[in-house]
Order: sequence, then C-alpha cells, then structure tokens
Amino acid sequence: MDFKQELKQYQDLMNSELEKYIDTRECPEEVLNRSMEYSLMAGGKRLRPILVIATYQIFKEDIQECMPFAVAIEMVHNFSLIHDDLPGIDNDDFRHGKPTNHKQFNEATAILAGDGLLNNAYRVISKTLENSKKEDLSKKIKIFQEFSDSVSKMIVGEFVDTEEEGKQISEETLEYIHRNKTGALLTLCVRMGAILAEASQEDLNRLTAYAEKIGLAFQIKDDILSEEGDEKILGKPVGNDKILEKCTYVSEYGLEGAKEKLDKLTKEAIEELEVYNEKAEFLIELAKYIKERNK
Ligand code: IPE
Ligand code: IPE
Ligand code: MG
Ligand code: MG
Repeated sequence: MDFKQELKQYQDLMNSELEKYIDTRECPEEVLNRSMEYSLMAGGKRLRPILVIATYQIFKEDIQECMPFAVAIEMVHNFSLIHDDLPGIDNDDFRHGKPTNHKQFNEATAILAGDGLLNNAYRVISKTLENSKKEDLSKKIKIFQEFSDSVSKMIVGEFVDTEEEGKQISEETLEYIHRNKTGALLTLCVRMGAILAEASQEDLNRLTAYAEKIGLAFQIKDDILSEEGDEKILGKPVGNDKILEKCTYVSEYGLEGAKEKLDKLTKEAIEELEVYNEKAEFLIELAKYIKERNK
C-alpha cells in the first residue's frame, strides 16, 4: 500500500466534498460566508473525516453513508481552530501558513464564523437524519448523541486548557485536558465509522481503544511540534505554548519523556488493530503518520 498516495486521495475527496457546502451567494453576510470558507478550505490535513471513512471501510465499501458525518466533523474541527486562535484563547496569528481567521477578517467575524461552522455541522447531520431510511435511524441518532457529547468534551478540554495556563498541574489533569480537547473528537470519528458500518460491540471496543490512544498521541505530537517543529512546514507558530505557559506533555515530561509516551501509545494503538490484518493497514499507517508527521 502506498500510504502517502491513499492519504492524498482521501484528502482530495474530502476537499471536493466540503466545497459543496460553501455558500458563494451575493448577500449581506457574504463576508461571513467567505470567512467560514477561508478556514474550512485553508489546507487542513482532514484527519478526522479520513478516520471516519477509513474505519467504515474496514467493514463496508460504499462510503456515501459516511460523507455527511465526515463533513460535519471537519466543520466542528475548524470551528474549534478558529476559536482556539482568538486573542482570548491562544492569541495566534498564523495557521496553515496564513493569517488566522480573526487576523484576516476581524474578531467579531471570526467568532461568528466559528459559530456558523458549528451550527452548519448540526444542520448537515439533521438533514441526513431526515433523509435516512427508517431502519438506519436508530444508529444515526446514537451517532448524533455521541457527536454532541464529544463536542462538549472538546469545549471542556479547551476551557481547562486555558484555565490552567501558567499553573502547576497534576499528570491526571494534563491527560484530562488532552483527552478532552483533542482525543474526544478523534475517538468520535473512529466510533462514527464503526457504528455506521454496524461493527460488532467487540470491534467497536477495539477500535475505540485504538482511537483513544491515537487521540492522545496526536496531541502529544502537537505539543512536541510546538516545541521543535519547523514553523514554515507547520504553518503555525512554534514556541507559543511556552510563551503562554501552557501545560503540555513537553512542559510536564520534557521532550524525551513526551517522545517516549508518543512511541508507547503508537505501538499500543497499532496492536489493537492487528487482528484486522490488511483491512486495517491504512489505519495502522495513519497511527505511524501521526507519530512521525512534521505538520
Ligand atoms: C490541530 O489539529 C489542532 C489540534 C487538535 C491539535 P490538526 O493538526 O488536525 O489540524 P489541521 O486541520 O490538519 O490543520
Ligand atoms: C487545539 O489545541 C485543540 C482544539 C482546537 C480543540 P492547541 O491549541 O494545542 O492546538 P494548536 O497547536 O493551536 O493547533
Ligand atoms: Mg489551544
Ligand atoms: Mg492553539
């Protein structure tokens, strides 16, 4: 399997799917719509929707059923990034190699663009519920509930992350922040793919274990990149965690300690999927990519 090529195919697929949700009408709120588009199409890696689809594909081929959920989670993710960059939270000026939303537009627009993307995610899901076959409704309602619970966790994680800036925190609190602010949405993606594909409870448990591990690993890698990444490749500032005195895996365990934890989690995540053999090859490679990525 050529992982890089498959990843690119998934990214292209998601980019063209997301394009369909962009409102280009001439209207009084045109700038707001452009601001939503600006962030949604800024060049993100699309890891969350890809997790939904690739998990689904362990069990089923035709991914049409996944697409609205894949779109919705990417909208929520971009909402979280716009608000995360605001002066009241991380006060960052660059993301994806471009000015952050509030720098490109203004704070009011960025706040409302975030709100708009969050709400649009729920609109996309409610539309798919409306158009679903009766026999698919109960699993989609379950997903809807997990979706909103996970968005709440992300918000909670962001809150505790900002509250604890500059303080000494316990290892438990640090893990709590990471599992909520980042892990919750990544876990949701894998679970959505599995539930949509009607995976057994045993499969769902195994995939959830994989997802929780890569979810935590993902944020540990984000912490490492914030310390030693290349700003040009990363497209966002390096060193800001330190300036804001953020509680991160690097501040708590040092660079080497954080890397050890990342290695261990990645290994464990991969072990969870070995029973699926080549069916899970992409997800296994994705875990390695999360560990090795430089952006
Ligand atoms: C960045 O997530 C924010 C975190 C949760 C750490 P990604 O690195 O997945 O963001 P993009 O969309 O690919 O830029
Ligand atoms: C972002 O966390 C998490 C969410 C937006 C939910 P960070 O603040 O650590 O991520 P970056 O480094 O700005 O992407
Ligand atoms: Mg933050
Ligand atoms: Mg940030």
